Amino acid sequence: MRRGSILQLILIGVGAGAIATAVAIFVPWLPTPASRQAGRIDFVYWFATVISLFIFAVVAAILIYAVINFRVKDPMDFSDGPPVHGHTTIEIIWTVVPAILVTAISVVSAIVLAQNSHAGSNPLVVRVFGQQFTWTFQYPNGKIFPILRLPIDRGVELEVTAKDVIHSFWVPQFGQKQDAVPGQVNSLVITPDRLGTYPVICTELCGLGHALMRSEAIVMKKADWNSWYRGTSQPAPQPSGGAGVSAGAAIFTQYGCVACHTFTPIPAATGKVGPSLDNLKASAAKAGQQLQDFIKQSIVDPNAYIAPGYQPNVMPQTFGSTIPRNQLDLLVEYLAQNTK
Ligand code: CUA
Repeated sequence: MRRGSILQLILIGVGAGAIATAVAIFVPWLPTPASRQAGRIDFVYWFATVISLFIFAVVAAILIYAVINFRVKDPMDFSDGPPVHGHTTIEIIWTVVPAILVTAISVVSAIVLAQNSHAGSNPLVVRVFGQQFTWTFQYPNGKIFPILRLPIDRGVELEVTAKDVIHSFWVPQFGQKQDAVPGQVNSLVITPDRLGTYPVICTELCGLGHALMRSEAIVMKKADWNSWYRGTSQPAPQPSGGAGVSAGAAIFTQYGCVACHTFTPIPAATGKVGPSLDNLKASAAKAGQQLQDFIKQSIVDPNAYIAPGYQPNVMPQTFGSTIPRNQLDLLVEYLAQNTK
């Protein structure tokens, strides 16, 4: 091979490699990791990307060099080039080199996979429930919240499950997804290492409210998280109307009503999937029912009366069996007392 040809190949390869490298580096393909697991996944991503960039540069160099130098001069020449049979050295190279690279990628991936499923000796275990169309998080003290709060630098084991259909738990900055399947508990280990507020997204099509099935994961300083967690075991403040009201508000939050309905007495309830619950008296009158009966029917048999402008079969029809009798009564009473 002539010296000039080798120089030409190298120049084309370096140019193509530089362009591809710039695309890899300067386009923000992945969010900045906020957990150790995501950091490791990022490493695997770059490990495989660097190998791919090198192979791309070699292939692009040979391809472009061939297109330029072996172009047919006569536009009417449609004949094939001379056939080539076997070249042992090249065949050994293009078998051994990819075998080494693919083995390296799989070994690195296997190590990261094993590390990422290890929660350490004293993990914080949080149960994650997906349901149409909200997430709820239950802590070791039994309390349930619509937002996931985690202390920084502590191993967290999420036990992910679903109450109705299949959902999928995903925080992009944590780097991993886990399916939420009814009747099954799937584990997901996260060690948050960056303070901040990140979106919790459902990534499994689960119904009309799927795109709105979002929550937040807040990574807090250890001391802040500890005082928040200690505070949660004290009795909730009672705004007005005694224990029934705050218990009703807790049930409303626990069963995810906040995700789909707007209800002014609860600031977190700003959902737009279902009708607002601020004017239930007018709706009950329109449906020709007594207020409490109307509210109860709307929860346990949501298709019985559909608010104008809304679709049937959006609200889950399972609340009659999932909300215990006494809690259902408290919830109905709470809504009846606080609506207009
Ligand atoms: Cu839940 Cu999509």
